Amino acid sequence: MVEKISTGSEGMDTILGGGIPKGNQVILAGGPGAGKTLFCMEFLYKNAKLGINSAIISLEETKEQILQNVKETFTDFTNIDELVGSGKLAIYDIEALTEIMKGVYFESRDNATSQSASMREGTISNFFRDLAQNLTNLLNKQKAEVIAIDNLTVVRNLIKDSYDYRNFVGDMAQILKSNAVTSIIVTELSDPREDKLVFDLEFFSFDGIIAMYYSFGIGKKVPSIEVVKMRGTDHSTVAVPYKITSSGIKLLDLEHKPG
Ligand SMILES: Nc1ncnc2c1ncn2[C@@H]1O[C@H](COP(=O)(O)OP(=O)(O)OP(=O)(O)O)[C@@H](O)[C@H]1O
Ligand SMILES: [Mg+2]
Repeated sequence: MVEKISTGSEGMDTILGGGIPKGNQVILAGGPGAGKTLFCMEFLYKNAKLGINSAIISLEETKEQILQNVKETFTDFTNIDELVGSGKLAIYDIEALTEIMKGVYFESRDNATSQSASMREGTISNFFRDLAQNLTNLLNKQKAEVIAIDNLTVVRNLIKDSYDYRNFVGDMAQILKSNAVTSIIVTELSDPREDKLVFDLEFFSFDGIIAMYYSFGIGKKVPSIEVVKMRGTDHSTVAVPYKITSSGIKLLDLEHKPG
């Protein structure tokens, strides 16, 4: 039987048939504000609490922004500072990554927006190529077994050349696979409605796809989550409504859903 890694959310583990098969690379696709970053942080926090080294590579928000949002929303995550402080849960933002790679890609590090805006022309693809190539070092350094990357849409918007972007995605997936880490890679859905879902072709080679989107109730849109595909486990493919609570992401009405 395949070993499973918990997502940290009981309901998610239920619809996944026990969790994410160890070593899988999973795309988490969702609309703006769906709770993608929080989903990742619950996954990392709960695993770190079990003693499993976890890490997030945040290409959008700074470490401070992530921590502030998690503490505001998941008020039950009382050990977060301790786990981050001890390195059990590592948060690598652009500043930390740049430091690690000893890159000179940014002219200013004042904030995430100016970081992106001030990237010198022609160096962006190099930065992400180097990031993919340095992933192994980063994973070895922290001995991370579960990781999250947030998010690929940032990279796609920064790399103008689609060939370079696909190379980055391919290199990254390859490196994650060869390091046998269980990972969640975030991407944005341009139209997060149930009947408008479109997944980029490059995501089909990943082990799993989880989507957070709006399904339609009578006269209302319902934030829902669906396991679109997951290699190595017998999972549900039903869209299940979810709610973000102080203790994590809760799936609603699970008992009424067929397997
Ligand atoms: N205290 C709270 N209780 C319930 N829901 C909350 C709370 N705080 C924030 N949220 C929800 O969490 C969402 C933000 O979560 P998160 O940052 O993980 O989303 P995201 O999908 O990563 O967003 P983005 O597209 O900006 O990256 C908000 O849109 C809001 O709906
Ligand atoms: Mg986010």
